[in-house]
Amino acid sequence: MFWRHRTESNGIERSEQAMNSLEGKIVAITGGFGSLGLGTARVLAERGARIALIGRSDKTGTLPAPLADACIVTGIDLADALAAQRAIDTIVQRTGGLHALVNVAGAFSWETIGDGSVDTWQSMFDVNVKTALNASKAALGPLSAGAGGRIVNVGALAALKAGAGMGAYAASKAALMRLTEALAEELKDKGVTVNAVLPSIIDTAPNRRDMPDADFARWVKPEELGAVIAFLLSPDAQCITGASIPVTGRV
Ligand SMILES: NC(=O)c1ccc[n+]([C@@H]2O[C@H](COP(=O)([O-])OP(=O)(O)OC[C@H]3O[C@@H](n4cnc5c(N)ncnc54)[C@H](OP(=O)(O)O)[C@@H]3O)[C@@H](O)[C@H]2O)c1
Repeated sequence: MFWRHRTESNGIERSEQAMNSLEGKIVAITGGFGSLGLGTARVLAERGARIALIGRSDKTGTLPAPLADACIVTGIDLADALAAQRAIDTIVQRTGGLHALVNVAGAFSWETIGDGSVDTWQSMFDVNVKTALNASKAALGPLSAGAGGRIVNVGALAALKAGAGMGAYAASKAALMRLTEALAEELKDKGVTVNAVLPSIIDTAPNRRDMPDADFARWVKPEELGAVIAFLLSPDAQCITGASIPVTGRV
C-alpha cells in the first residue's frame, strides 16, 4: 500500500491513498464475467472494494485471486426488470448494502441500415440501454441510502458519432449517455453521482482475434479502463456527475 501525504493550500494534510481508496465499498458490476467486467472487478478489488459480479449465463470461469470472496449472482438477464431487481436484492442481502453500480453489460453489432434488420435496433437498445436502466432502477434505494452512492455506465465513443454499419449500436450508446445525464440530474441532491466512460477499442481477446493486424498497444486495456472507473467511484470524483468521458488510448 502506498501512502503519500500532501499539504493543501489551507495547511490541511490529507492522504491520497485514503481519498482514492475504495476500502469497504460494496460495488456491483453487471457483465461481470466479460472481458471488461472482470478486468474492472480486479482493479476495484485491489483497491479494497467488496465486489459483486452479475452474470447472464451460469458460467463463471476461474476467477483471479483478488475476486476469491466476490459475491456471485448468475443467470440474470438484465433486460428483464424483475430479474435485475432480484440480482440487486440478492447482493444487498448477502453483502449488507450497496455503494456503487458499474453497468458494463452490453454488446456490439455491425450491420448497415440498408441491408440490416430493424429488429437489430430493438436488440441493441435492450442490451445496451435496458440492462443499465433496469439495474440502475433496482439499485436506487440502496445507493441513495448512504452518502456517496455511485453509478458508472460503460458507453462507447460511437455514441458521439456513428460510422457506417454502426447505426443501431451508436444510437443505443447515445441513449445510454442521455440516461446517464438524466439520472445524474435526478440524483444530484441525493448525493449519488452518475457518469459514463466511452471506450473506443478495448484490448480484449475477441478484438485481437477479429483484428489480428492491428497495433494492440494503441488500445486501452480493461484494467486501464477499470482505473478510470475506480477514480469515478472514489471520493475524489464526488464533484463529477452527468459526465461521459472518452477513454480511448491512442485510437
Ligand atoms: N470491447 C470493446 O472494444 C468495446 C468498445 C466500446 C465499448 N464497449 C462496451 O464495453 C462493455 C463491455 O465490453 P466487453 O468487451 O467486456 O464485452 P463482453 O466480454 O462481451 O462482456 C459483456 C457482458 O455483458 C453481458 N450481457 C450482455 N447482455 C446481457 C443481459 N441482457 N443481461 C445480463 N448480462 C448481459 C454478457 O453476458 P453473457 O456473456 O452471459 O451474454 C457479457 O458477460 C459493453 O457495454 C460494450 O458495449 C466495448
